[in-house]
Amino acid sequence: MKTRILVTGGTGYIGSHTVVELQNNGYEVIIVDNLSNSSANVVDNIEKVSGIRPHFEKLDCCDLSGMDAMFTKYKGIKAVIHFAASKAVGESVQKPLMYYRNNIVSLINILDLMPKHGVDGIVFSSSCTVYGQPSKENLPVTESAPLQPAESPYGNTKQINEEIIQDTVKSGSPITSILLRYFNPIGAHPSALIGELPNGVPMNLVPFITQTAMGIRKELSIFGDDYNTPDGSCIRDYINVVDLAKAHVVAIDRILKQKQLEKVEFFNLGTGKGLSVLELVKTFEEVTGVKVNHKIVGRRAGDIEQVWANPDKANNVLGWKAECTTEETLESAWNWQKKLRELGIQ
Ligand code: NAD
Ligand code: UD1
Repeated sequence: MKTRILVTGGTGYIGSHTVVELQNNGYEVIIVDNLSNSSANVVDNIEKVSGIRPHFEKLDCCDLSGMDAMFTKYKGIKAVIHFAASKAVGESVQKPLMYYRNNIVSLINILDLMPKHGVDGIVFSSSCTVYGQPSKENLPVTESAPLQPAESPYGNTKQINEEIIQDTVKSGSPITSILLRYFNPIGAHPSALIGELPNGVPMNLVPFITQTAMGIRKELSIFGDDYNTPDGSCIRDYINVVDLAKAHVVAIDRILKQKQLEKVEFFNLGTGKGLSVLELVKTFEEVTGVKVNHKIVGRRAGDIEQVWANPDKANNVLGWKAECTTEETLESAWNWQKKLRELGIQ
């Protein structure tokens, strides 16, 4: 019998890619998603990619009795990957209570139910946002760099969630956990059957680039060219979403094979390479041969000047490494955008 893994938020962007990788590695996946930021047909597309249909429950992780019944229905779930969360930074400033409720109650429910249902461990989606702007000596950023006060309610939920997991484990709960701090996930599956589907006007850079290249948006605004960086634009560590998904499989293996050195482990998931906004736009144009209309505008409030990962711990301890080049990743993002056009979605 295959080992059962619960993936909350499994029809979302990173979740859907992770479900495919888990299936490719012999796991049986149960997706729980309330479809607040994704659609049920992602389940069909996952099946097209992997050849296996995951179980799917339309359910809100904040619904404690619904989650309890789900764990009972799918007896024997061994681990959880908890992606389900609201993730729009700007919206979280407008609707803080919605963010605190959704992102915190959902995690509390899962942690509460895990021991009762014999679930060994949890992999949690955290973010490099917990580091804020690291000082120059702390770049590239390692897991031991100091955390900084969050810039938004969204960022704060990630910090609070990390603390909730640590406190729960410290209290003697039998579970273990791996907290993955993602840098900037971009791109789509090479099949172009799953990818990121932003709601309305994209806030993130790569969907805005691909929509501008497609002619859906007139022009990309580059937020600032007066930062203290070589070309003046901000620097980030852009990581391929399939590479990121694969790290979750390694984390699950590690929990199930009891290879953890500590009951709460933290890993940065990035490439180790910082790229500026202008470099990313230029690379996209070179790879696709399509021009991206852009203009420089003022800085975006709350933006961090530069952050990129030191992924040595993930490379050495997990044995995981980001493999895809930026060129391959941007090509996959463009193929996904073209597929959305073909389907008349965007
Ligand atoms: P996404 O919005 O595409 O996926 C999240 C999924 O969770 C969606 O399908 C949504 O419908 C679902 N969901 C939300 N609240 C739920 C609830 N209460 N119950 C059940 N389902 C619920 O987002 P994503 O980009 O795939 O992000 C996944 C996780 O990774 C999130 O926790 C996010 O904060 C974190 N993260 C994302 C990024 C990024 O750049 N995408 C960076 C760092 C961390
Ligand atoms: C943001 C969040 C981060 C969250 C992540 C995923 C902030 C400060 N950080 O990361 O917490 O985990 O999204 O949702 O909001 N840019 C442009 N023009 C655009 C869009 C972006 O120039 O139209 C620039 C930004 O200024 C930034 C870079 O592109 O320098 C990347 O931006 P984005 O994709 O939004 O990600 P982050 O801001 O790094």
